[in-house]
Amino acid sequence: MSEAKLKILVVEDEPDQRNLIVSMLAANDYQVTSAESVEAAIVLIKQDEPDLVFSDWKLGQLTGMDLLNYVRRELPDMGFIIATAYGTITHAVDAMHAGADDYLAKPYQRQTLLLAIDKVAKSIALKKQNRRLASELSQQQELVGLVGKSAMMQKVYQRVQRVSATDATVLIGGESGTGKELAARALYQLSNRKHKPFIAINCGAIPESLAEAELFGAEKGAYTGANSLKIGKLEAADGGTVFLDEIGELPLLQQTNLLRFLQEGVISRLGQNGELKLDVRVIAATHRDLQLEVAEGRFREDLYYRLNVVPIHMPALRERPEDVGQLVEHFLKIHCRQYGMPTAKLSSQTLKCLLDHPWPGNVRELANRIERFVLLGDEQEMVNELTLAPQMLDTNGFILPETGIEWDLFEKDCLQQAMTKHEGNRTKAAKFLGMSYKAFLYRLEKYQLV
Ligand SMILES: Nc1ncnc2c1ncn2[C@@H]1O[C@H](COP(=O)(O)OP(=O)(O)OP(=O)(O)O)[C@@H](O)[C@H]1O
Ligand SMILES: [Mg+2]
Repeated sequence: MSEAKLKILVVEDEPDQRNLIVSMLAANDYQVTSAESVEAAIVLIKQDEPDLVFSDWKLGQLTGMDLLNYVRRELPDMGFIIATAYGTITHAVDAMHAGADDYLAKPYQRQTLLLAIDKVAKSIALKKQNRRLASELSQQQELVGLVGKSAMMQKVYQRVQRVSATDATVLIGGESGTGKELAARALYQLSNRKHKPFIAINCGAIPESLAEAELFGAEKGAYTGANSLKIGKLEAADGGTVFLDEIGELPLLQQTNLLRFLQEGVISRLGQNGELKLDVRVIAATHRDLQLEVAEGRFREDLYYRLNVVPIHMPALRERPEDVGQLVEHFLKIHCRQYGMPTAKLSSQTLKCLLDHPWPGNVRELANRIERFVLLGDEQEMVNELTLAPQMLDTNGFILPETGIEWDLFEKDCLQQAMTKHEGNRTKAAKFLGMSYKAFLYRLEKYQLV
């Protein structure tokens, strides 16, 4: 790195504490700015990209984690150290998971802070150097089948590459169709177990009564109809990798058996007295919010922690519209080749329409639409489908106001807006609201809108 002083942003809402840290760092030859809140810090980060952020955990309404998430999303190379209150080790663990470079438990010695900063500064210098060396290589556009060059996907690639060489258990989350299975396969492809078995198990597809034998195997005669020894999926994967898809659907009893395997590395076949030691790397995936499943008693908390050693979050497509163009090209190429056709092209209007679509079914939906377009060759039909198809309301982000709502007024307003939008054409307005003509007319009459 050049001789320029390292720029540090100190985020602390307590004025005395903030001034103390600022003057200490300035005395140690760092260039220091400071902010008292997450919002003010973001303004400063945008204005004057610091090399490193040192943030307190507790900052009024928001926390240092919110800031960390922002920084990791927008500027993945920026150094980040977080200070957590004494006795809140879970905060430190969460922060490290979210990509903090280091944490300090309060109260800390000034020397500890300086050492931590020095360590992170060195790693930033190294990252910058690596970046320079790699500057010839363009931004990573894809990783073993995963396509997309948005910052969010870069983060996924970095994580996948980093943990693929280890045997760490990985938990992949994200909405349906975001590429969780593809990421699991990428992890496997890049690992040194790639010549060993990769066994995928869809935990949601096994009937509960068969789950134990499927996963862990069964001795001959262990249950009625068990005429021979059955080798379970985990045993079959010995030496390799097992992919537990839809792990949130695993019956509670099998969660206990799986926990035992993750803790002790052993399983017992159904009906077996002894135990078998296995060497299997576990990758799990779910579209569910497992923390919520834990809170509601459907998923074992201890198993959740055992699985969530390295979390990988697959971002929804609507969060990274900058990837749509590249994905469209990718699937056009794949499907045209698959059906032996010359590579098709789309007009810029169609592309715009694809970019504006919120993609509730994520990459899978996009792949399917492009495949259908390649087969039917009807660009207009694809556009019509995208613009006329009613979108599911994103109920994840839709929160009713604290004060409640006037349902009738809300419904009436929806009807009126639909009618205005479609210039009084009832058929189109009904379709726009995703309801039958009859149901629509009934409501129009109810609100005396006819
Ligand atoms: N980033 C990507 N680049 C290229 N193809 C992708 C990408 N993400 C997903 N796909 C493709 O989209 C389809 C769905 O992906 P995948 O099955 O991995 O999703 P998933 O997250 O496991 O979904 P579900 O939760 O419904 O099981 C697959 O055909 C996959 O190849
Ligand atoms: Mg899947």
